[in-house]
Amino acid sequence: MLRSQIIGFGSYLPKDVVTNDDLAKKIDTSDEWIRKRTGIAQRHIAADGELTSDIAEQAARAALENAGVATDDIDLIVLATATPDNTFPATATRVQSNLGIRRGVAFDVQAVCAGYVYALATADNMLRLGQAETALVIGAEVFSRILDWDDRGTCVLFGDGAGATILRAADAAGNNQDRGVLSTHIYSDGAYYDMLYVDGGPSTTGTSGHLRMEGKEVFRHAVHRMSEVVVTALEHNGLSIDEVDWLIPHQANKRIMDSIAKRLSLPEEKIVVTVDRQANTSAATIPLALAEAASDGRLREGNLIALSALGGGFSWGSALLRL
Ligand code: UT7
Repeated sequence: MLRSQIIGFGSYLPKDVVTNDDLAKKIDTSDEWIRKRTGIAQRHIAADGELTSDIAEQAARAALENAGVATDDIDLIVLATATPDNTFPATATRVQSNLGIRRGVAFDVQAVCAGYVYALATADNMLRLGQAETALVIGAEVFSRILDWDDRGTCVLFGDGAGATILRAADAAGNNQDRGVLSTHIYSDGAYYDMLYVDGGPSTTGTSGHLRMEGKEVFRHAVHRMSEVVVTALEHNGLSIDEVDWLIPHQANKRIMDSIAKRLSLPEEKIVVTVDRQANTSAATIPLALAEAASDGRLREGNLIALSALGGGFSWGSALLRL
């Protein structure tokens, strides 16, 4: 039996840091309000001309180096993004080209903030079926380009960034029996389409549009679904919450994470938090947090890690990993 093992992590954050005080100079907001309601202190914003493919490539190169894998070994690229370079083709194909890869397959997955979990589920299924051997799974977003910078209810919440992981198909035998991606669960319910969407697109306005959100409703559903789907993952694997070493939730709002910890009876210290410094980078939050916790030594071999996310659609899901 084949199983996907996560063998490398990488990240990239644009150089420009915008603090809450910087935003308060342009719109009617304050550092106090943003910190109190969201836990966010700052966000990284891409430079003019810095594209999703550029930041995805940087994160990918870092992950390849971390894994000790050559670009030639990659035969699958799945890029989660809601902010592609162009309407088509898939931004993943530009990343493939920038990395000099001429084989295998590269495509985008669009599930907004749940994008990385969807991409991981897709890559994991392909690896387990033997359709590819070594996958690059990326979450990369330049949300700053789709924000309405006059809407204080949304523009303070997001940032730009990219995170990447390398997955390799390995025989789930011997020492590897309990290691790798143990399960993924993904869901959507389009009845909530209008709760979080971008008011443009090729078949509606012909423009890329701006993000619109019913914040309170999204908050409520995020807490409910992101907790529920962790329970689903644990039950599926016959594991308990006490066995989880780290929960890496999508980073939208510190208050959402606190509520999930409470619902799951999980100590807050077991949650990896990056939202304070990076804000909500949509599909990139989870791979960015994974890369941070891997590089500072928090993630150790044998650790059980739960991932959980909800985004526009609504789309949501979880993954359980054993390092
Ligand atoms: O990745 C998934 C997508 N996103 C999320 O998961 C976000 C989910 N939602 C949230 O995080 C929260 O709903 C927000 C942070 C967006 C908003 O927090 P809230 O506690 O739900 O605030 P609210 O929207 O009810 O607004 C409360 C007040 C309002 O003023 P009034 O009507 O009470 O006078 C807003 O106009 O806060 C005001 N407000 C602001 N004030 C200062 C809204 N945004 C701001 C702001 N600065 N940036």
